[in-house]
Amino acid sequence: MSLDQQIDALRTEFTAAIANAGDEAGLDTVRVAALGKKGSVSALLASLGSMAPEERKSAGPAINGLKNELASLIEARSDVLKSAALNARLAAETLDITLPLQPAPTARGRIHPISQTIDEITAIFSDMGFSIAEGPDIETDYYNFTALNFPEGHPAREMHDTFFMKTGADGVKKVLRTHTSPVQVRVMQKTNEKPAAGYMTPAMDPPIRVVIPGRTYRNDSDQTHTPMFHQVEGLVIDKTSHIGQLRWVLEEFLKAFFEVPNVTLRFRPSFFPFTEPSMEVDVQCDRSGAEVKIGEGSDWLEILGCGMVHTNVIANAGLDPDIYQGFAFGVGIDRLAMLKYGMPDLRAFFDADQRWLDHYGFRPLDLPTLFGGLSS
Ligand code: DAH
Repeated sequence: MSLDQQIDALRTEFTAAIANAGDEAGLDTVRVAALGKKGSVSALLASLGSMAPEERKSAGPAINGLKNELASLIEARSDVLKSAALNARLAAETLDITLPLQPAPTARGRIHPISQTIDEITAIFSDMGFSIAEGPDIETDYYNFTALNFPEGHPAREMHDTFFMKTGADGVKKVLRTHTSPVQVRVMQKTNEKPAAGYMTPAMDPPIRVVIPGRTYRNDSDQTHTPMFHQVEGLVIDKTSHIGQLRWVLEEFLKAFFEVPNVTLRFRPSFFPFTEPSMEVDVQCDRSGAEVKIGEGSDWLEILGCGMVHTNVIANAGLDPDIYQGFAFGVGIDRLAMLKYGMPDLRAFFDADQRWLDHYGFRPLDLPTLFGGLSS
């Protein structure tokens, strides 16, 4: 067969094959058979090398012409197939844009009101220049009581309805901490240089301004008590802090937290072993309606305990009470959350009921800030 005949035969064969290719994959098979490394047209091109120069002069353009011709036929056919495939998809796939959107997981999940309340409290105190510290839930009897000036055998140890733990092999008596106050000592203590594993308990030099949120435990359970509950502790230590500042800090905190322009506080003398003097604080409120309104009305609601840190506690933490003084306060977080968000039963907080969480929970991306709104 002459070269011209070979070229004609290939042209006829592949032109038909290209026209008959039904999809992109079929077309590609034809391309490989013609123009691929081992394709027929490529083989013909390779034969140029063994031709006499004269022969090559006419054969070269002829074979290359065939190659280019087939390449452009393939490209044209590919365009046709592509748009046919797209049209077929468009016809087959329909989207009902009237269907409701599935909410994204970030929109469906809910932040527990306790987490929200802790975030709100820490946002307020951070704004006032306080740091955040944490301590362990399983606490030594020493930090929970002794360092806080509870004498051995003092009735206050029993009043805390303490969950005492079995004394371990090391002889150290442990309890589930009954309050966040032991972290006061951990923060003040010079020897507590490294944070305990997993907790943010940095030892600080005075001036110290910290809030300490966390879980606390007492053997008690009814509508307003659960065996596990939450407190936030506040501690300010320097050389001159006094009750006037304590009062201001608490007022600013409560105004910001309850998102009201004014609060009126009443300080009543009380007793805690770790403060002297000790006070309980009531906030003025209105209880005439279905919910308690803070900042108005003529009722009082007990809201926290506080006082000037006892000199024994300062000394137990290794600071000199003749140089340093300060104040502390302890607030029940769960109670604050119940008051602010109107939940009647504390036990529901820990029932893990999805319906309750859907109702009372907060959207995960709405972080509480003072400038953007705490609870909105
Ligand atoms: N720890 C106390 C309690 O759980 C609350 C408390 C009272 C903490 C007075 C304080 C304080 O820091 O000064 O009952």
